[in-house]
Amino acid sequence: MKESQPSTIYLKDYKVPPFLIDKTELTFDLDEATTIVTSRLHMRRNPACGKSTVPLTLDGGEGVKLIGLAMDDYTLPPEEYRISENKLIITATADQFVLTCETLIEPQNNTSLEGLYRSSSMFCTQCEAEGFRHITYYLDRPDVMSVFTTTIIADADRYPVMLSNGNEVERGKTEEGKTFVVWNDPFPKPAYLFALVAGDLAVKNDIFTTQNKRDVKLQIFTETHNIDKVDYAMEALKRSMRWDEEAYGREYDLDIFMIVAVDDFNMGAMENKGLNIFNSSCLLASPETTTDDSYLRVEAIVAHEYFHNWSGNRVTCRDWFQLSLKEGFTVFRDQTFSADMHSETVKRVEDVSFLRTAQFAEDAGPMAHPVRPASFIEISNFYTLTVYEKGAEIVRMIHTLLGAEKFRAGSDLYFERHDGQAVTCDDFVSAMEDASGVDLTQFKRWYSQAGTPVVSVTDEFDAASGTYRLTMKQETPVTPNQPTKLALHIPVRVGLLDQSGNELSATLDGTTAEDHVLHLTSSEQVFEFSGVTARPIPSLLRGFSAPVKLHYDYTPANLLLLMSSDSDGFNRWSSAQQLAVNELQALIGQAIAGETLSIDSQLIDGFKALIGDCNLDPAMVALILTLPSQAYLSELANPIYPAAIKQARHYLKTQLANALSGEFESLYTNNKSQGVYQANAEDIACRSLKNLALSYWVETDSEAAQQAVVQQFEFANNMTDQFSALSIAVHSQHEKAADMLAVFYDQWKNEPLVVNKWLMLSAGQESDDALIIVKGLMEHPAFDLKNPNKVRSVLGGFGQNMAAFHKEDGSGYRFLADQIILLNKRNPQIASRLCTPLTRWKKMQPELSEKMKSELERILAEDLSKDVYEVISKCLA
Ligand code: ARG
Ligand code: ZN
Repeated sequence: MKESQPSTIYLKDYKVPPFLIDKTELTFDLDEATTIVTSRLHMRRNPACGKSTVPLTLDGGEGVKLIGLAMDDYTLPPEEYRISENKLIITATADQFVLTCETLIEPQNNTSLEGLYRSSSMFCTQCEAEGFRHITYYLDRPDVMSVFTTTIIADADRYPVMLSNGNEVERGKTEEGKTFVVWNDPFPKPAYLFALVAGDLAVKNDIFTTQNKRDVKLQIFTETHNIDKVDYAMEALKRSMRWDEEAYGREYDLDIFMIVAVDDFNMGAMENKGLNIFNSSCLLASPETTTDDSYLRVEAIVAHEYFHNWSGNRVTCRDWFQLSLKEGFTVFRDQTFSADMHSETVKRVEDVSFLRTAQFAEDAGPMAHPVRPASFIEISNFYTLTVYEKGAEIVRMIHTLLGAEKFRAGSDLYFERHDGQAVTCDDFVSAMEDASGVDLTQFKRWYSQAGTPVVSVTDEFDAASGTYRLTMKQETPVTPNQPTKLALHIPVRVGLLDQSGNELSATLDGTTAEDHVLHLTSSEQVFEFSGVTARPIPSLLRGFSAPVKLHYDYTPANLLLLMSSDSDGFNRWSSAQQLAVNELQALIGQAIAGETLSIDSQLIDGFKALIGDCNLDPAMVALILTLPSQAYLSELANPIYPAAIKQARHYLKTQLANALSGEFESLYTNNKSQGVYQANAEDIACRSLKNLALSYWVETDSEAAQQAVVQQFEFANNMTDQFSALSIAVHSQHEKAADMLAVFYDQWKNEPLVVNKWLMLSAGQESDDALIIVKGLMEHPAFDLKNPNKVRSVLGGFGQNMAAFHKEDGSGYRFLADQIILLNKRNPQIASRLCTPLTRWKKMQPELSEKMKSELERILAEDLSKDVYEVISKCLA
């Protein structure tokens, strides 16, 4: 352990910057081993600070070596500045001056993938959140916005493509015969949006004509061998640009928009102004190598990063506590975009399923934090599901409370009022209030209060008067540093069904409708509907109108009725999930008690009716037929018995498969035909239903099903079908599974993104020697510890391997802890992410909990990066 622990930064300590940087001129003399960065910063004291004499303190980072410093034309001697804890402090400054600073950095030794680094044969950057300080000394904070001019000098034979933000304004030769290119970005921006790329890259060009008939040049760059996989991303980009004009009135502002794909990247992608940089896994797509899920992900992330041009770049964050200002809003925007491109209900189900599984787990664990956190040690740890996904739910609730039209007026006002500024979540809410007249004072607690609220509902019906009363209680559980919780403003969308499943119209507060938004604002509240002709079944929280856990004591018959008849597609799915959860929880209880599992599943009839209903979107059928995941069941459990969860889920799946084997077989056969691959909603739906059916059918002892898996694996004309067949083989322990894995690797060993899928599936194999397999994968030529995608594939796949990861002897935990320690210094961000499964230790069954805890303690005893230290110390607090 270190002598002194890293310090905590608090939102309440925010102060405006004492200096501003009007212009930033950068020159990069690029070289793999040592790159020289020269910056000329046109600085002045911030008038908002009044008359001040505070010294100038610039942020720097490890790996940055200062080799020259001058103020105006005066070279500063060492006694006029000092460097302490990565800060460069200059005591005496004028009110206005140009600071010239020369630093030396080593891109090829940069394994953290923050700042300027090498990926394959190229140079690239990642500056959000605090990466720019790893390039040069700067005021590296989002409220310091500057106009950047960037000169890149490199050997043009090896780096013919040299890119930065904005427009290329000049190009020529240096005296030494190198090439230089100058870029200028006219829009002031914080340093986190800076980007630079240099490499021998191929490009695909296109043009987008904006609503005002301006032509924008679009370019996607990749390494040469990947350029045939960018067509889908290019089309998705154009759809995004058009959608943002139509849905939000936002037009692109520069004359050129570039995207570059890189293989080594800590996250998904980055919205640098005019020059987005993508993890290649989030950009490249081809039918043979990319699954449907990945196609949809590419489209969503291209849109997400593009949308940031307004929600993030034109209007940015004042400080990093406001991260959800741009991320929550932009996720909401990309979710709506994807819904418009495909199916709204399917998209909502997928998003909610993810939120309830992963964000709810985060909210219930030691790292729980509000959407606008009050403090952090390392901001990289706060690029979380809470900030992103729960943040998007907050924006969605504002949309529900205001209605579409006023929401749009609010967003128009927000962009108009704050264009070119760095603002706060409060500013966003104020714009929404001012444009709509809706009071969001209580609603704003969603930003500051952590934890998932629990809403409990009971009801009463009085036939004589035709009144139906819903009583709702809300309670938010205690989370770290938040012992008491206030009542939230929770919009609960509700409908009523009669006993035959027809929608009932009812009157609430003078409004008669089939669908009402209830405003739950107190800890307990009664809503009284009149004009109700028969005892209703309530359809609660339609569309998942708030990110809460809702409890109402439904009978299985109620759930089956909602599942077959609710006009709200989301609740049809949600009711089926609830029914399955109830049955699975009963089975988990039997498994924990060591009893023989047995159930008379109500799902059988429900599924049978569903499969027979040809009016339904096949994608919805597939979602409804999908049993709750082990991860979701774990989130709901306390304590978590992983083996019982696995056993129960497998048991129920087999019961359903046997009871409905004929249905699953024909569902499979009827959807089997494959035409030319297309990633459209209809075809994706067919494939998902077919593969879901196959995953059930193979659980029967049908020889035909076993053969169908092999056939599909061999003859599929697209990765979705081939990989589905392979996964089904692996997870059903098909006798050919090992052979198929070997064939698959051999077939795709030259396609890294496919190899990553293979790594993940291989690491997830439930076999007695899973850990040996995983250790072998890390020695495999396809593995590379420097590449986050590969680390995520193997260790992520292993983390989901319920049997191997949670093995009673603790060997799974020990192995993961070893990897965290190994990566701690090399790549702190990735190491910190790998800690997530261990953060659940308090919820594990007692024997496992102890074993997890001792691994956490072992990690804490190391000399830790800020990233890992924050997570582990908070886990053990
Ligand atoms: N702003 C990016 C996005 O959501 C995420 C980049 C975060 N990167 C990081 N290293 N923390 O689109
Ligand atoms: Zn984002």
